[in-house]
Amino acid sequence: MVSIPAKQTEDFSLPALGLGTWQMGGRYERDPNNDDERDVDAIRYAIRSGIRHIDTAEIYAAGHAEEIVAQAIKGTPREELFITTKVSDEHLRYDDILRACEGSLNRLGAAYIDLYLVHAPNPAIPLQETVRAMDALVESKLIRFIGVSNFHVPLLEEAQSYAKHKIVNNQIHYALYARAFEENGTIEYCQKNDIIVTAYRPLGKGKLTQKGNSRIDALAVKYGKTPAQIALNWLVQKPNVVAIFKSSNADHIRENLGAIGWQLSEEDTKELDAKYPRGETMYVPTS
Ligand SMILES: NC(=O)c1ccc[n+]([C@@H]2O[C@H](COP(=O)([O-])OP(=O)(O)OC[C@H]3O[C@@H](n4cnc5c(N)ncnc54)[C@H](OP(=O)(O)O)[C@@H]3O)[C@@H](O)[C@H]2O)c1
Repeated sequence: MVSIPAKQTEDFSLPALGLGTWQMGGRYERDPNNDDERDVDAIRYAIRSGIRHIDTAEIYAAGHAEEIVAQAIKGTPREELFITTKVSDEHLRYDDILRACEGSLNRLGAAYIDLYLVHAPNPAIPLQETVRAMDALVESKLIRFIGVSNFHVPLLEEAQSYAKHKIVNNQIHYALYARAFEENGTIEYCQKNDIIVTAYRPLGKGKLTQKGNSRIDALAVKYGKTPAQIALNWLVQKPNVVAIFKSSNADHIRENLGAIGWQLSEEDTKELDAKYPRGETMYVPTS
């Protein structure tokens, strides 16, 4: 069992590493050929190994990923887990959010959601209406905390200006190669404003786990770690940043947990900060 440290702000904390569930149970639809048992076993293995934060969404496998999470967490005391799920950007009207939350709770078999995120901004729906519904869910104790995903600074400021409750989390694509949210000031803004950043796709969907990148390979040799462990350690040692990786494979989960408990030197971190080759960042708002 690995003891995963938490990142803490004044009112909120999240474990430095958590487990994602995108593609468990299918993609945007439930995949009847998916090996659900393997996904359930992987989540159970992750929990036994020390993972507490599980990230899912109503759109993952059209809700079936949440059902897989429900199966996996049966038998674990609810208060030992931290469950994040997300309302689809198509459900951001007031009543739609209340309905979406009820659907997620039913599929998760849970009485409450720890962190409920707006999955992505939707310029066609007034953000004020969305935030009002998120506040109402906190007040009815169906969710503990409000967050957003794929938001940049202007959207974070706008959302917080309407919200009664603090927006504690912004889940964004952030990885060695994906730096757009660093370049547009979102990471720094979150660090200065007590918002925890959850870095999603931290392994580039597996690309960063393979040898072949000379910068990571050299550090892997230097520290006696694997490329995945270097890529995750680079993220989770940053202030206010946590990461969620997806894996349905116990060996990979064990390997990824080896990103915890040691630290890249300041010099090596700076070198990666400055020189790691940039690639594409997903879902960066443009207006
Ligand atoms: N908010 C959003 O808009 C948004 C967008 C994308 C993702 N997310 C969340 O972030 C989570 C993580 O992102 P992601 O799933 O897109 O990408 P990821 O975690 O970067 O990569 C997952 C892929 O890497 C493989 N993998 C994991 N560890 C490995 C290891 N040690 N060695 C080799 N392969 C390894 C997994 O395969 P195996 O299963 O075989 O290990 C899987 O194919 C998602 O699951 C989801 O919960 C959120």
